[in-house]
Amino acid sequence: MTDEPLVVFTPSGKRGRFPAGTPILTAARQLGVDLDSVCGGRGICSKCQITPSYGEFPKHGVTVQEGALSEWNKVEQRYKDKRGLIDGRRLGCQATVQGDVVIDVPPESQVHRQVVRKRAEARDITMNPSTRLYYVEVEEPDMHKPTGDMERLIEALEAQWNLKGVKTDLHILSVLQPALRKGGWKVTVAVHLGDANHPPKIMHIWPGFYEGSIYGLAVDLGSTTIAAHLCDLQSGEVVASSGIMNPQIRFGEDLMSRVSYSMMNTGGDQEMTRAVREGMNALFTQIASEAEIDKALIVDAVFVCNPVMHHLFLGIDPFELGQAPFALATSNSLALRAAELDLNIHPAARVYLLPCIAGHVGADAAAVALSEAPDKSEDLVLVVDVGTNAEILLGNKEKVLACSSPTGPAFEGAQISSGQRAAPGAIERVEINPETKEPRFRVIGSDVWSDENTFAESIATTGITGICGSGIIEAIAEMRLAGVLDASGLIGSAEQTGSSRCIQDGRTNAYMLWDGSAEGGPTITVTNPDIRAIQMAKAALYSGARLLMDKFGVDTVDRVVLAGAFGAHISAKHAMVLGMIPDCVLEKVTSAGNAAGTGARIALLNTEARSEIEETVRRIEKIETAVEPRFQEHFVNASAIPNSAEPFPILETVVTLPQVNFNTGGGDSEGAGGGRRRRRRG
Ligand code: FES
Repeated sequence: MTDEPLVVFTPSGKRGRFPAGTPILTAARQLGVDLDSVCGGRGICSKCQITPSYGEFPKHGVTVQEGALSEWNKVEQRYKDKRGLIDGRRLGCQATVQGDVVIDVPPESQVHRQVVRKRAEARDITMNPSTRLYYVEVEEPDMHKPTGDMERLIEALEAQWNLKGVKTDLHILSVLQPALRKGGWKVTVAVHLGDANHPPKIMHIWPGFYEGSIYGLAVDLGSTTIAAHLCDLQSGEVVASSGIMNPQIRFGEDLMSRVSYSMMNTGGDQEMTRAVREGMNALFTQIASEAEIDKALIVDAVFVCNPVMHHLFLGIDPFELGQAPFALATSNSLALRAAELDLNIHPAARVYLLPCIAGHVGADAAAVALSEAPDKSEDLVLVVDVGTNAEILLGNKEKVLACSSPTGPAFEGAQISSGQRAAPGAIERVEINPETKEPRFRVIGSDVWSDENTFAESIATTGITGICGSGIIEAIAEMRLAGVLDASGLIGSAEQTGSSRCIQDGRTNAYMLWDGSAEGGPTITVTNPDIRAIQMAKAALYSGARLLMDKFGVDTVDRVVLAGAFGAHISAKHAMVLGMIPDCVLEKVTSAGNAAGTGARIALLNTEARSEIEETVRRIEKIETAVEPRFQEHFVNASAIPNSAEPFPILETVVTLPQVNFNTGGGDSEGAGGGRRRRRRG
């Protein structure tokens, strides 16, 4: 037993005895308490802020007296005058231990602080970025010790920060000497801490103490849009988010048309590589200017993308991905330099691409796995990233299976007669009264339903322009619930349904959702070909999920997570009425928003998450839908609404599916489900 004062840190609970006069920062370091510092205890950076608590602490067995810490000093006062310091806070490098004390380390002073995420997420993000700032005092040159300035800087980094084997590049050598002299032999350096294949490297140098921050980009490179989050690598905050259309769209709307463009045109792949890199640079310029930072402060970037985008971005011809067995040039993660990809950010910036899961299941699906962590789930979770290709993961702590399913663009409003992308004026919510068969709806840009008095006024600027992906899903599901659509996907006639909204449309019928023709506006109908397009898309999605359930040996899942921007807008009930997703308690169907983008952000802010997802991806079992005979069988069953073979008992406790059949046996007026069944029997 010693009479040295006891220091208890919260929230970690770490405790130890230290001689009076020990700085709190030193005590924290010795106990392995997570207390930040960039200036190494010189009272400049304020990263080491702590809050001492006074009084009785029976839980810790201590009483903290006034005077448990040294007196407020000049350095702290200077900092408070200049930058402000919350009352009760002290600088951990200045305050020294004088008596037993309880010290709280606030979240913003923790090196591995948790980044707050917007929703209740599967996991928190722990800060552990690849690049950090260090303030160092470097020995001045001496005639008797003829070492170079760089060698003395590297020695200082080792002595003051325990950073071993730090290397550098020519671009640093060329600015090193003026920086050291201008800073009076004190400099701040940004050091990339290295990885399995790279030693730690000095990325940038500032004379004196650098007060600013350094940044990283989390980029979701999709076939339609490229979205980026610019993150502060010290705080973890997203400082700006921006997106652009993928400039490759001019070479083909979907992935396969881009693969064929490269097959049909010599140098087509290089053209597309150039286009996507140029687009990326334009986006980075835009996002940096939104955040009012210099692009050269972006030192790290993480990319997630599907396999075709992955290859085209890297400058690899995606030819092999267009044909079985869909071989990737590499499925491993990649750690590269931004300059190799012609990206105009910091000249030494690093780039990390998450691993791909398989030839059809890319780094974007790996990012969803990182964000939603099915491999850590106690219950069985189905994660569906809905896009032109649906990436599907099913698993729990035991194992995770993955596949992709070609849903096509119908869910995005393409191939739909009145379809449009989700933009102001698009119908996004639909309800149909089962008695009257009359619809009411809402359009993007207004909160007012179409049967409310102020509706016309509320849509005066946007108008009603079409129907978006989530709108068409609700419309079709509501039509089914209202009994104007049968299980095979046929819309009834006015006589069959008793509704004048059902109008003849060639040899089939359509449902009139909105007739704006009197005012010169559009008529918005849901036609039988629209229903077929959605039936195909949802059957592809469901059969992918069902196939994974077969492989897992289960008939039900505990929860469903809908990822992707589209997933954020679809209603669980309507998705289930359509039979897009398996029967599940509605409250257990949640939306994860842009989970691929979140996964990219996790990998950007926490390098440990990179090795974690590399390991997880190695363990994920890939299922290739194209070679699975049961996929076709599930597809045929899933073409019906909701399904011709699978029961939906949980759904049926919530809704009643009318038993209607509009097939009069004539011609080709069948819906997709009926058509498929007939072909199969034949
Ligand atoms: S460690 Fe930088 S101010 Fe305390």
